[in-house]
Amino acid sequence: MKKERPDFFRQLADQQHPQYLWIGCSDSRVPANEIVGLLPGELFVHRNVANIVVPSDLNCVSVLHFAVEILRVKHIIVCGHYGCTGVLAAMDDIELGAAENWLNHVREVEERHEEELAALGGGDAHFRRLCELNVLAQIQNVGRTSPVRKAWKFGQDLTVHGWVYGVEDGLIRDLGVHAASREDVTSLRRRPDRP
Ligand code: CO
Repeated sequence: MKKERPDFFRQLADQQHPQYLWIGCSDSRVPANEIVGLLPGELFVHRNVANIVVPSDLNCVSVLHFAVEILRVKHIIVCGHYGCTGVLAAMDDIELGAAENWLNHVREVEERHEEELAALGGGDAHFRRLCELNVLAQIQNVGRTSPVRKAWKFGQDLTVHGWVYGVEDGLIRDLGVHAASREDVTSLRRRPDRP
């Protein structure tokens, strides 16, 4: 990098101007910057097991606050992934110690969509759909946090996107859900195929 752009690191040391906040899984196969091809300084990142957003999680809300109010990112990408061990553990009641409590948030999503998931006949289709539904639920949760509510209230340009990444093929799927206001989040809730 220094060969191509000698000033790159010196400029980065002064300040960051990312336009995007990435909320993704901690899974080592889902590295945020590499997947979207962004350089240091271009993507603000929060990762945890199964890319869960809980409005009472001080860690996650602090990241959202810094990204939205200080850095003023324009896009928040919630990116889940197929083959997520956290989602699988929630589905199959695998014992994961402390993470079991955390994964209750995924179990709640599964319960809310019991009928739709049951119709898939179990197996991989159920697993993949739950990975998607979990992302859709987290978009709503992002919209419920105080920094995002405040940003929308004051007309800040901020859109939340839902993606799922395939660890088996390296491709990103856009779930086609974009929330740019409180009304968008409310209408997500009303759609029968949404969280
Ligand atoms: Co995962």
